[in-house]
Amino acid sequence: MLKINNLHASVEDKSILKGINLEINPGEVHAIMGPNGSGKSTLASVIAGKEDYEVTQGNITFEGNDIDELAAEERAHKGIFLSFQYPVEIPGVSVTNFMKTAINETRKAKGLEDMPAKDMLKLIREKAELLEIDRKFLSRSLNEGFSGGEKKRNEIFQMAMLEPKLAILDETDSGLDIDALRIVANGVNKLKSKDNAVLVITHYQRLLDYIVPDFVHVLYNGKIVKSGTKELAHELEEKGYDWIKEEVNA
Ligand SMILES: Nc1ncnc2c1ncn2[C@@H]1O[C@H](COP(=O)(O)OP(=O)(O)OP(=O)(O)O)[C@@H](O)[C@H]1O
Ligand SMILES: [Mg+2]
Repeated sequence: MLKINNLHASVEDKSILKGINLEINPGEVHAIMGPNGSGKSTLASVIAGKEDYEVTQGNITFEGNDIDELAAEERAHKGIFLSFQYPVEIPGVSVTNFMKTAINETRKAKGLEDMPAKDMLKLIREKAELLEIDRKFLSRSLNEGFSGGEKKRNEIFQMAMLEPKLAILDETDSGLDIDALRIVANGVNKLKSKDNAVLVITHYQRLLDYIVPDFVHVLYNGKIVKSGTKELAHELEEKGYDWIKEEVNA
């Protein structure tokens, strides 16, 4: 599904990603961990096609096609979802209306007509229930006065509605209380199928108890320096990153 080959990327001429290789197949859950500033969010942004980042070497293919030339919006239409993609506050636009627009835009890009209002309502109800989202929440203005946890929940709601092929969740655990964490993880797990994949970026092993990864990768200084299974996340929780830094620098 996603293939990253020797990816180098920089921001404002500062080199941040220094040769990333990663392959994600349908049905897989990958977790990326790593110290602050190692390039995790940058990697997520580069995959999603955010403009501030310049790919200086290597490439990314999605379902067999090179996506390097595609704008973020086009990548989203192809089924790549990045949490935090729409962090904007839009006064006067409800969560529901925002979702309607987002869904119909995606359909339009695929040459489909708008989703009939009845189906849309059904979908919204279904997904809101799945994520235990309150009806009242759906009529609130997008992100306006949302708490950290509400923002996160809204992101997962967007993901559930859009049903992306590849969902990239960056730091979905920060700011969530235990119940919200469980709901968010549940939503991700219920969305999982043999046809889609999830890339979750996290600092905490805790989240990976809920969203169990098939692979865990450690990003350090712009490179994936270690890959393993969920046991690696436990090892990191226990020992921190120093031993990995030592291994890399040895
Ligand atoms: N838009 C930007 N402008 C300038 N520097 C940037 C920008 N984005 C990222 N960087 C720099 O790139 C490096 C990697 O940042 P990135 O956000 O990818 O790290 P991270 O692994 O996600 O860290 P954290 O665990 O703290 O979230 C940092 O040194 C950061 O300051
Ligand atoms: Mg980050």
